[in-house]
Amino acid sequence: MNDMRIVERTVDSHQTKITARGVQVYYGEKHALKDVDVDILDKTVTAFIGPSGCGKSTFLRCLNRMNDTVAIARVQGDIRLDGDDIYDKRVDPVQLRAKVGMVFQKPNPFPKSIYDNVAYGPRIHGLTANKAELDAIVETSLRKAALWNEVKDRLAESGTGLSGGQQQRLCIARAIATSPEVLLMDEPCSALDPIATAQVEELIDELRSQFSVVIVTHSMQQAARVSQRTAFFHLGNLVEYGETGQIFTNPKDPRTESYITGRIG
Ligand SMILES: Nc1ncnc2c1ncn2[C@@H]1O[C@H](COP(=O)(O)OP(=O)(O)OP(=O)(O)O)[C@@H](O)[C@H]1O
Ligand SMILES: [Mg+2]
Repeated sequence: MNDMRIVERTVDSHQTKITARGVQVYYGEKHALKDVDVDILDKTVTAFIGPSGCGKSTFLRCLNRMNDTVAIARVQGDIRLDGDDIYDKRVDPVQLRAKVGMVFQKPNPFPKSIYDNVAYGPRIHGLTANKAELDAIVETSLRKAALWNEVKDRLAESGTGLSGGQQQRLCIARAIATSPEVLLMDEPCSALDPIATAQVEELIDELRSQFSVVIVTHSMQQAARVSQRTAFFHLGNLVEYGETGQIFTNPKDPRTESYITGRIG
C-alpha cells in the first residue's frame, strides 16, 4: 500500500506534456473520436487500450498531426504540447513530427542503409554540423534502441535486410535520432516474437527517463508491464483514464471492467 502511494506520487510529480480537450475526429460522415479530454504526462509511459476500431490509432495520430495526411479526416478540438497549440497555422507538421516521433505497427525501415535510416531525421532537420556529429547521433540512437551491438559492423547494409525485431528497433532508433520529446508507438510489438517484444518493452522503460511515451497495445499484459497510465477507449469515447494499477485492479467504469476481464472486445 505504501509502495503504491510512493509510485503514485512519483508519477504525479511529472509535468503534463500534452493536453487534449474536446477532440473530435470525423472520417467523412463517420464520427470516429468523440470529445476526448486527456492530459499526457512527461517521463511516463501511457498505454491506450480498447477493442479494435475504438479510435486508439486515430487519437494517437492526432498527437503529431498524422491525420493531416488522411484526406477525409477532420480533427476538431484543442491539443497542446507544452501549452502550445499543435494545430496552429504557424506550426510546421514536419517540425512537429521531429518533436513528436512515431513508431508504427509494421516495421517500416526505408530502403536505405542502416546508417542512413537513423541519419535521415538529423539530416533533414540539419541537426548536425559535420560527419563526426552525425556518426555520434547514429551510434547513440542505435545504442538507446538496443541495436548497436548487432549492427555496428554492418551499418552500410540495408535496413530492410534485418530481422523483424531488429527492423522495429531500427525504426525506434530512427524515431529517437531527432531527440523527440514524445514518442508515439502504435502496437510496436505486434509483429515481433516474444524475445524481441521483451527487448522493446525494456527499451520503452528506459526511454521513459527521457521522453513521454504513448503506446497503443492489444496486450493487457503489456500495458500492465510497461505503462504507468492507461486510457481505455470504447466506440470512439475515452471511457476511463488513470493510474495503470487502478485501471486493471479497480476500474470505475463497467465498460472498462468488461474489457479487461475479456467480456467485450
Ligand atoms: N483512413 C480512414 N478512413 C476511414 N475510416 C477510418 C480511417 N481510419 C480509421 N477509420 C475508422 O475510424 C474508427 C477508428 O479506427 P482506428 O484505426 O483509430 O481504431 P483502433 O482503435 O486503432 O483499432 P485497431 O485496434 O484495430 O487498430 C474505425 O471505425 C475505423 O474504421
Ligand atoms: Mg489501431
